[in-house]
Amino acid sequence: MKKEGRKILLFDTGNFLFRKPPQAETKRRDALLRANLLIHSYNEMGYDVVNVGEKDLTMGVKFLFEVSPSVKFSFVSTNLVDKKTGRHVFKPYAIKEIAGLRVGVLGLLDDHFNSTLQEKDPGLNVTEPVAALKAAMKGLREYCDLIVVLSQLGESKDKKLAREAHDIDLILGGGGESRRVVMERENGTAIYRLEPRGGYLGRVDYSLSDTKRPIQFTISDEQEALQKKLERLAFHATQMRTEMAKAGQQDEIKAKELRFLESKQKELEKALLAFGDKNLYRHVVIPVQMAVSDDPSITKELEMYRAESAKLYKPKIAFEAGKDLSETEMVARIPKTSPFVGAISCKKCHEVNYRNWVKTKHARASQTIAASPPYAQEECLMCHSTGYGKIGEYAAVSEIPFYLQGVQCEACHGEGRGHPEKGKMARKVTLGICRNCHTKDQSPTFNYVAYLEKIGCKIPR
Ligand code: HEC
Ligand code: HEC
Ligand code: HEC
Ligand code: HEC
Repeated sequence: MKKEGRKILLFDTGNFLFRKPPQAETKRRDALLRANLLIHSYNEMGYDVVNVGEKDLTMGVKFLFEVSPSVKFSFVSTNLVDKKTGRHVFKPYAIKEIAGLRVGVLGLLDDHFNSTLQEKDPGLNVTEPVAALKAAMKGLREYCDLIVVLSQLGESKDKKLAREAHDIDLILGGGGESRRVVMERENGTAIYRLEPRGGYLGRVDYSLSDTKRPIQFTISDEQEALQKKLERLAFHATQMRTEMAKAGQQDEIKAKELRFLESKQKELEKALLAFGDKNLYRHVVIPVQMAVSDDPSITKELEMYRAESAKLYKPKIAFEAGKDLSETEMVARIPKTSPFVGAISCKKCHEVNYRNWVKTKHARASQTIAASPPYAQEECLMCHSTGYGKIGEYAAVSEIPFYLQGVQCEACHGEGRGHPEKGKMARKVTLGICRNCHTKDQSPTFNYVAYLEKIGCKIPR
């Protein structure tokens, strides 16, 4: 876009630095490396304003202050204040100038994060967003031509905000529970929200022809609809003229029809002209596909980060550890203290179940994610491995002990230590167990009866 010579302002609604609070030291250090990479990339991309999301505060406000000398964009937060002094922790708003327009940018956090944030930083307070926004907008409205709010409030609260605080031009929604794409208008305010995780870039185009203040913008949908209609009419008319020329003789009905089309065309052209001196805006969604080439300097940074990150994770148990071992040796390597004994231990008594299971996708579920970068694997492991979080500490595929790789027997049947000497497997397998992993998000086509057919165990009718 910059190459095309467009004038742009780049915003982020926040929650970009961290995922979830890292428990282990390794993860903590990796998270810091990643955060620095992100800040660097945002600098390179030329971000202008970024809202502070609750996840950006994972390492405390201290972290953001520490990195601030290297940050080239502005962090804003309109409702994050110091509990004692009531003062804003970050700038409550930023003002950016573009093409002679002054754009005021504010940022909001949801106040229901107050308790979680205060656990880490007792000195922080998130105030009620609507009131905070109204207070910050006093004076700002007169000075700015456009008011943009970067919001972490979620879909329904964004709407409420648009209804209660007049005079917002644009709300860019980030947070909240809903993952829906939203393009709507409420009380004259445009609200746009994209799918999370950077699959899309949202762009709002403003075209300015009337610079008389106060500057007003109209959504360009209507103009575009007229434009399309005009194109269709023009095409139709041309087609008709060619047909008539081919036929050679005069066809009164056709000629009449053509005259009608031409008069309609004139009408539309006139209507379109009326848009000529209006200021318009529209929203465009750009999928970030492989076709979008990588920036060489950011790619280099990313590679450096990956090398640094990889050093942090020294594989404790090699991924293929079990591969060249005999079954007895494999069984012998399973720690006696582990409540999980692995499919290989079940094999000697449940040969058929084992042979069927090996052929299922469950058996290979850890390999499926091995191609993702190591730092991104941990969040997949709760479903793509067995007993994650209950045993040992592993955060990447290369670290999973072989008897926990994939979705093993014990992911469904429960811990196997002690069976059969001490009795039956503890657990009855139910739909709820599948649903731990086959969530609506991750397994949209899940159907209990149909899926049961494919797991390799005999199902009693
Ligand atoms: C510990 C998490 C977990 C549990 C519990 C679980 N699954 Fe799965 N399941 C997965 C994962 C992950 C995959 C995808 C495997 C892959 O290809 O990487 C999968 C794949 C499948 C598939 C293969 C789908 C296909 O495309 O062929 C079926 C069938 C299936 N599961 C059925 C079940 C049923 C039925 C249950 C409950 C009795 C269940 N699963 C319990 C995680 C789980
Ligand atoms: C909440 C549990 C859960 C999480 C977390 C999860 N997955 Fe899955 N994944 C599944 C299930 C269940 C399936 C099987 C879906 C089906 O076939 O219905 C699956 C299927 C897949 C498949 C398709 C496999 C195939 O054989 O077609 C890929 C690829 C995949 N997951 C990658 C990932 C990655 C990468 C992550 C981490 C970023 C991840 N998953 C996180 C549960 C999960
Ligand atoms: C995706 C979940 C899942 C996995 C993985 C799984 N099972 Fe099952 N298994 C079931 C379900 C469901 C039943 C039906 C009986 C029940 O309700 O417990 C079953 C039944 C059984 C039975 C009794 C019926 C029969 O087939 O003889 C045995 C034994 C058994 N499984 C062993 C195993 C072993 C061994 C493994 C690993 C090699 C394994 N299962 C993996 C879900 C699973
Ligand atoms: C030493 C042989 C042996 C091993 C090893 C073994 N089982 Fe079993 N299993 C049995 C016997 C025998 C029964 C029948 C017991 C009964 O019905 O009381 C049984 C029954 C079952 C059943 C069905 C009844 C129940 O207990 O719910 C399941 C499911 C099962 N085993 C799963 C497993 C899994 C999973 C493993 C590995 C973690 C495993 N077994 C390891 C011998 C074994």
